[in-house]
Amino acid sequence: MTTEPAPAAHAYLSQLFSLHGRVAVVTGGSSGIGRAITDALARAGASVVAVARGEARLAATVEELTSEGCRAAWVGADLSTREGVRAAAERAVEAFGEPDILVNSAGINVRPPMDELTEEDWDMTMAVNLEAPFLLGQRFGPRMAERGYGRILHISSQQAHRAFVQSGAYGASKGALESLARSQAEAWSPRGVTCNVLVPGFVMTPLNARLSSDPEKVAALAARTMIGRNGLAEDFAGAAVFLAGPASGYITGQSVFVDGGLSVH
Ligand SMILES: NC(=O)c1ccc[n+]([C@@H]2O[C@H](COP(=O)([O-])OP(=O)(O)OC[C@H]3O[C@@H](n4cnc5c(N)ncnc54)[C@H](OP(=O)(O)O)[C@@H]3O)[C@@H](O)[C@H]2O)c1
Repeated sequence: MTTEPAPAAHAYLSQLFSLHGRVAVVTGGSSGIGRAITDALARAGASVVAVARGEARLAATVEELTSEGCRAAWVGADLSTREGVRAAAERAVEAFGEPDILVNSAGINVRPPMDELTEEDWDMTMAVNLEAPFLLGQRFGPRMAERGYGRILHISSQQAHRAFVQSGAYGASKGALESLARSQAEAWSPRGVTCNVLVPGFVMTPLNARLSSDPEKVAALAARTMIGRNGLAEDFAGAAVFLAGPASGYITGQSVFVDGGLSVH
């Protein structure tokens, strides 16, 4: 018995899931969930531009992918200001042209108790988690719609749906991000641009370094899932390729929970 897929199966899977010839921009593409999505989209055939602040991690991401034969580039940018976002968008198109796929994964989670949450915390959280995705959508979405094809994918959080470890401004930003996705879907889906959200549960990434380093908390959180473990960045690869590709063309405005069953337990 052969273990290789039949050529017909290969062609069928390519037709459903291949991103060959597509251009993707992934914010936060240098770390955690965004890094895993960058890798996945590039390995599925897209030319991917990763955007974040830290240049060393960006360069390492691109180097690893290009050494595998993938097409990747990076842009160092701070997405916490409007000027930073605009500059990032202009530089992102220099590598491979206008994107067909936009993934907003860059995010921050400052967790002061609600009583101590400052206006600066609020502004910074909203700028990175909500305003940057909005501005990038305004920059790229209408052009995708003009060309008749596009995929926009946001990374939200269970905290858009429930309070969890001082959700503060973070939960509010993610709730609004999911609403933004529905508005974008309403605006651009008739012209071929789907807009969806991936909703993680608890994922072991640098964002969670403090919680992830407490074995008791990690075990308690894993026990709240149905699968019995916390998320890994790689768990987002398949869902991202699906929602970035041709197979998901009739799915829009949706929030897809990638959380091991945490939200339904
Ligand atoms: N980990 C979880 O359990 C979890 C749960 C729910 C939702 N999420 C969401 O998933 C997304 C990815 O999180 P993660 O866990 O993968 O976190 P992560 O490993 O800390 O990655 C965050 C990424 O965002 C970039 N970034 C942060 N601030 C930025 C800024 N001002 N300008 C440009 N880039 C910036 C970071 O790069 P630089 O620091 O170099 O800029 C990094 O690439 C976030 O939106 C987060 O809210 C995560």
